[in-house]
Amino acid sequence: MGYSIRKALRWLSIAGVGVLLLAAAASAQQLPSQSKDVHLGVASCAGSTCHGAVTPWKDSNVLQNEYVTWTRQDKHAKAYEVLHNEKSKRIAANLGLPNAHTAKVCLDCHADYPAQEARGRTFQVSDGVGCEACHGGAVRWLGLHVSGTSTHDENVKLGMYPTTDPVKRAELCLSCHFGNETKFVTHRIMGAGHPRMSFELDTFTTIQPAHFVVDADYRKRKKVWNGVQTWAIGQAIQLRDLLDALTSPTRSRDGIFPELVLFDCHACHHPMSNVRWQPRESAKLGPGIVRLNDSNMIMLRIVASHIDPASGTKLRELTIRLHQASTQGPQQTTDAAKEMRTLVGGLVDRFAKHNFERKDVEALLNGVIQEGIKGEFVDYATAEQATMALAAILNAMKNTGLVNDAQFKRMNDALNEAYNATAKDEAYRPEAFVAAMKKLNETIPRS
Ligand code: HEC
Ligand code: HEC
Ligand code: HEC
Ligand code: HEC
Repeated sequence: MGYSIRKALRWLSIAGVGVLLLAAAASAQQLPSQSKDVHLGVASCAGSTCHGAVTPWKDSNVLQNEYVTWTRQDKHAKAYEVLHNEKSKRIAANLGLPNAHTAKVCLDCHADYPAQEARGRTFQVSDGVGCEACHGGAVRWLGLHVSGTSTHDENVKLGMYPTTDPVKRAELCLSCHFGNETKFVTHRIMGAGHPRMSFELDTFTTIQPAHFVVDADYRKRKKVWNGVQTWAIGQAIQLRDLLDALTSPTRSRDGIFPELVLFDCHACHHPMSNVRWQPRESAKLGPGIVRLNDSNMIMLRIVASHIDPASGTKLRELTIRLHQASTQGPQQTTDAAKEMRTLVGGLVDRFAKHNFERKDVEALLNGVIQEGIKGEFVDYATAEQATMALAAILNAMKNTGLVNDAQFKRMNDALNEAYNATAKDEAYRPEAFVAAMKKLNETIPRS
């Protein structure tokens, strides 16, 4: 009897583990590049009755001309070609690579590049960042999908990547636009000539030539997220990715130096004659110190301070602690980064559940502008993030009818001054940005 109960318990605990593992697999959907699902190649999506129509179809749920938009307007379609240009040849030569277009380190981000076993017969690396690089290997979902009867959720169960979900979308985009444990643009690659990278989820979603329309029919099929929420979630995931790199044994260091990509580029890269250092409340660092790139910490603190004030205060403390730790040593830095990582993980869930209403949007707009006026955006990377944040917020206000066309135009014209102030990174002057924030402040309609 005792024996059989023990056996049953053991069986239960094994079954329990199985259930847990299943649940983890469902919630941690793998990135298209990591999943074992076979990628069939762009050609399998581009048929004229599928997504390769020349003009949008009138009586279809989706546009059907996605391929044409992608191939003619979307830089992702040229991402592989770029590896043949002079810039790439120079980068490859500087890194001692035979070629950029055959190097895994480049193809990992400049193409859909799944494991060899996950490439179908018609799959071609030369397609660049193709449909399945974002939507996932199609082998399991294509059949049901072409029948036209499947829902988005059913497709996702069959391995389609949930691009609609802002958390999942942020993880996807940032896997290439920042990097992850398996692919990363290091300072060595930057030093060889790779351009600096910057990203903001809502802005980059808007800049990518849209091959989908959010209309009444889309809203019926899929959940639509407010742009401000997309921005907030994007900031949290971006900071989480930075902290993961900072605590990673492989990505955080290069010899006796830390990995410089994690720091503010312009702390080192700006002319010595452009003297501009000034103290900043949220960093509490003296002059002449290489600062971690804290632009996402500052943006996230603005969001958290409004949505969850206790977390906002905590993030302010932890930002200062992390900056201090970076002047003390690697262990102190790792400890502080881990603590911040825990807080940020909680914020992702908090923002995903929060309903971003008018009062939130207005408070966040005001929050970014006031921090700007206070002089918090001394560093170029932060001013750049603030500009993209304001663009995301203004667009959301327009799209949800919080401002009329005339009000939007006045605000957007003022935002142009912020764009001008951040147009050339090495010539950035914080005073010009503060002036732009003051001007924008005057255009906000006060209700
Ligand atoms: C972690 C992902 C990642 C890796 C690894 C990577 N890149 Fe990039 N690369 C990007 C992204 C993202 C951009 C676009 C940046 C932007 O515009 O914001 C880019 C831009 C470029 C550009 C500029 C393209 C243009 O239109 O001007 C060149 C050239 C380039 N990469 C070459 C390379 C080469 C060569 C390698 C290999 C040594 C490489 N990249 C590795 C992600 C990556
Ligand atoms: C860089 C990532 C990326 C690439 C590459 C990409 N897509 Fe998308 N796609 C998205 C995002 C993001 C959305 C919007 C969110 C959503 O509806 O899932 C989307 C939406 C769609 C939709 C849904 C439209 C709707 O109304 O529901 C279709 C269909 C689609 N893409 C097809 C394609 C095809 C075909 C290709 C290749 C020719 C392609 N996509 C390439 C990211 C991408
Ligand atoms: C597989 C890697 C990969 C993924 C995933 C990816 N991108 Fe990209 N993206 C690139 C590369 C590489 C470039 C640069 C291409 C070039 O310049 O020719 C790029 C360029 C862009 C650009 C043009 C930037 C500019 O300077 O004009 C936008 C916008 C963009 N990506 C948005 C997104 C969004 C939004 C997502 C997520 C839905 C995403 N990307 C996912 C690799 C990727
Ligand atoms: C701690 C200071 C420091 C930080 C932070 C830093 N760099 Fe550098 N960077 C250097 C040094 C030192 C060199 C080597 C200069 C040389 O060889 O003359 C260099 C070289 C470069 C080069 C090649 C310049 C050339 O003339 O060939 C590029 C491009 C570059 N860095 C980009 C970046 C980017 C982008 C970032 C931020 C993501 C960054 N760096 C962050 C110190 C830094």
